[in-house]
Amino acid sequence: MGRCPVCGEWDTFVEERHDSRERPSREAVRSVHPLPLSAVGAQPLERLQTGIGELDRVTGGGFVPGSLVLLAGDPGVGKSTLLLQACAQLRGASALYISGEESLEQLRLRAERLSCAPDQLWVFAETELDAIEEALAQSQANFVVIDSIHTLYSPTVDSPPGSVAQVREAAARLLQVAKSTGKVIVVVGHVTKEGLIAGPKVLEHIVDTVLHFEGETPYAYRVLRAIKNRFGPTHELGFFEMTAAGLRELPNPSALFMTHEARAESGVALAAVLEGTRPLLVEVQALVTPSTYAVPQRSITGYDYRRLHMIMAVLERRLGIALRQHDLFANIVGGLRLDDPALDLAVALAIVSAYRDQPLPPQTAVFGEIGLTGELRPVRLPEIRLREAQRLGIRRLLLPKANAETLSSTAIEVELLPVERLSLALSAIL
Ligand code: TYD
Ligand code: MG
Repeated sequence: MGRCPVCGEWDTFVEERHDSRERPSREAVRSVHPLPLSAVGAQPLERLQTGIGELDRVTGGGFVPGSLVLLAGDPGVGKSTLLLQACAQLRGASALYISGEESLEQLRLRAERLSCAPDQLWVFAETELDAIEEALAQSQANFVVIDSIHTLYSPTVDSPPGSVAQVREAAARLLQVAKSTGKVIVVVGHVTKEGLIAGPKVLEHIVDTVLHFEGETPYAYRVLRAIKNRFGPTHELGFFEMTAAGLRELPNPSALFMTHEARAESGVALAAVLEGTRPLLVEVQALVTPSTYAVPQRSITGYDYRRLHMIMAVLERRLGIALRQHDLFANIVGGLRLDDPALDLAVALAIVSAYRDQPLPPQTAVFGEIGLTGELRPVRLPEIRLREAQRLGIRRLLLPKANAETLSSTAIEVELLPVERLSLALSAIL
C-alpha cells in the first residue's frame, strides 16, 4: 500500500518477511547460557585512526573496528570529499570505497583534485546489496565507505532504493557484516530539507555512531559533530574549511567567529564558550528596535530560542529592562550552532548594549550561565576558556565569581572581573 490509511503518510509501509523455520528445539535453547560479566574477555579497543585529526577527535580517537557509522549531511556539504580524503590518508590500513552515486572515473578525477595518491585505496561502483556483501567478504580492506545508503538495493525487498524498507534492510545487513568481519563501515546518508536524516529514524538506531557534517552555504567552513557515539563522546566538534584542493583542517577555529573591527559597536559581545572540550571565542550580536507589530518579533540564530526568552524575562523582571515593545534579533556570528549555557551572559550583554546603544569595552570576553533570580552560575572548565581568551589577545574577562575562585592565579595575564549577579555584570562593563 502506498499510503497509510491511518496516518495518511506516504511510503511508510514496511514489508516484514515471515520466517517459517521451526522453533529451535529445547536442547538448543538450553545451551544458551548467560555469563557472569567478569567472564567476558575485554580486549582494549584498537582504534583505526584516519590521520585526519579533526575527524579522529570527533569519533573519540579513531573508528572502532566492527562498527557501523553513519555520516549524514546536506547534499554538497563535502561528505564524499571527507571520506575520500580519509581513505587516502589511512595509516596502516587499506580502504574500499563503494560508490553508488559517482562513476569510478569521477572518483578518480576527484582523487586527483585532492592530490591524494591512494595506492591502498580500492574502488567499486555498485548498488546491489548482495554484490556488495560478496565484495566485502572477499576484500582485505578494513575501512569501507558506502556512498550512499540511499542508493543501495536489495532485490528481495519489493520497494525502490531509498525507501524505508530498503534503507533498513541495507543497514541491518551491513551491521552484520561489520560485526562479523571487524571492518569499519561508514555509510553516507542524506539529510532532508527538514533537517532529518532521510529515510527513517530507524537508521540512527541501528548504527553505532552518527556523525553530522554541517556548513552554512555562504561560508567555506564545515563542522563535523557526533550526534550519537557508542564508543566515545558526543559534543566534540571538528572544524574544516572547503578549499579548491579539498577539506583543510582548522585546528584553531576561533578566528572564524569573531569580526576584527577596530571600532566598538553596540550590540556586540564576545563569549568564551566550550563545545565538548574545545574552547571557542564567538561573537554574539543583537539588534533591538521599537516594534511596529502587535506581537513583537524575537529571533535568535545559533542558540536555543527558549533560553533567549528566559534571558529576556530575567532582564525585565530582575533588572527592569522591559523589551515588551521591541523587536529583538540575535545571532551567533559565522552561522555556528551552540548549546553551551555559558553563552547566556554574552547574549544578555549584547541585548542590553543594543538596547542602550552603548558598546562594550574592546578586548573583553565574557562567560556565565544566568539563573532565574538573575544570579550568575558557574560553568564547567573555566580554565580552558580563560586560556583561549588569553591566546587570542583578550585583555579583560568577565566571569561568574564562583568560577574565578577556582582559577589558579599563576600565569593569568588578563584582568579578571568576577561577578555574582547579572546586574553587577552590567555595571562592571556598561
Ligand atoms: P562533495 O564531497 O561531493 O559533497 P557531498 O558528497 O556531501 O554531496 O562536495 C561537494 C562540493 O564541494 C562541491 O560543491 C564542490 C566542492 N569541492 C571543493 O570546493 N573542493 C574540492 O576539492 C572538492 C572535491 C569539492
Ligand atoms: Mg557525495
